[in-house]
Amino acid sequence: MTGQPIPVIIDCDTGVDDALALLFAVRHPGIDLRAVTCVAGNTDVDGVVRNTLTVLERAGAPDIPVGRGAARPLIEPARSAQHVHGSDGMGDLGLPVPRRTASELDAMALLRREILASPRPVTLVPTAPLTNIALLLRTHPEVTRNIERIVFMGGAVGSGNATPVAEFNVWHDPEAAAILLTAGVPITMYGLDVFMQVTVDTPDVRRLRASDDPGTRLAGDLLAHRPTAIGEEPEAEEAGGLGDAGAVCAVADPGGLTTRLLPVEVSLAPGPSRGQTIVDRRPRPGESEIHGGGREQALVDVALEVDVQRYVKLYLDTLQSSVS
Ligand code: BDR
Ligand code: CA
Repeated sequence: MTGQPIPVIIDCDTGVDDALALLFAVRHPGIDLRAVTCVAGNTDVDGVVRNTLTVLERAGAPDIPVGRGAARPLIEPARSAQHVHGSDGMGDLGLPVPRRTASELDAMALLRREILASPRPVTLVPTAPLTNIALLLRTHPEVTRNIERIVFMGGAVGSGNATPVAEFNVWHDPEAAAILLTAGVPITMYGLDVFMQVTVDTPDVRRLRASDDPGTRLAGDLLAHRPTAIGEEPEAEEAGGLGDAGAVCAVADPGGLTTRLLPVEVSLAPGPSRGQTIVDRRPRPGESEIHGGGREQALVDVALEVDVQRYVKLYLDTLQSSVS
């Protein structure tokens, strides 16, 4: 690694794969994790705060400030993903309650303080519904002067997961995602198209689980977690996706991602397209533009391909190097 570490703030809804992202960010020497903010998503916001504090303690980083943010989206009701992340939002691994509590500052105030106090522009990494970020941009718009880039996990060029076309983080709070896209700073969209590809094989997961280090072991246990329906036998397979952690890998090693600057719009219409990120990949204007119906859309660096082996190796090396 050359140069100074990148100042990073993660806004998350911890969350099995958000926890994987935190464990990586804490341990990567090229990242200076300055704060973590929490929002309702995979579970309720108090559960997210608890999980985040526990993960940071396990990672050996108990002093990173954690801010509690929005308890629900701007317009939609909160709709958790506990069926995926377990009833505690962290795979029901029986993790201890954290020793400390969140910062006295709420997420938006903490984001403002840390962004403006950073000696170098901050890279913001939302891995959750964009509610906190939208509220930050509307409440403290001056923060954009010290934001280098926003690398967010959300959206999809192709298939969705929450609906056939909408990805969970954008679907959960589409208005907030639309506000994010107009932030006026460079944005990278680490969407489902790449998110789904980065998977760690069973032997590597087993190696992590056998580690003496609590943070590394936790990463292995989280990767092995998979939701089991009532009455269903647990799978022998332990391979698991890096999920949100891939977005942090993209900050540490942007060369592993192929992106293209493309117009992106969030569908806010009620009905089956709500929460879809409409990515315009057409090489030339279409009928709508020709007939005067064009719309102004944000230009976003959309991740189209990922070097899977490169990010898996980066993740494993980072987690294991700190304990060897
Ligand atoms: C996103 O939704 C959440 O369940 C995950 O943590 C990830 O951020 C994937 O759609
Ligand atoms: Ca998440």
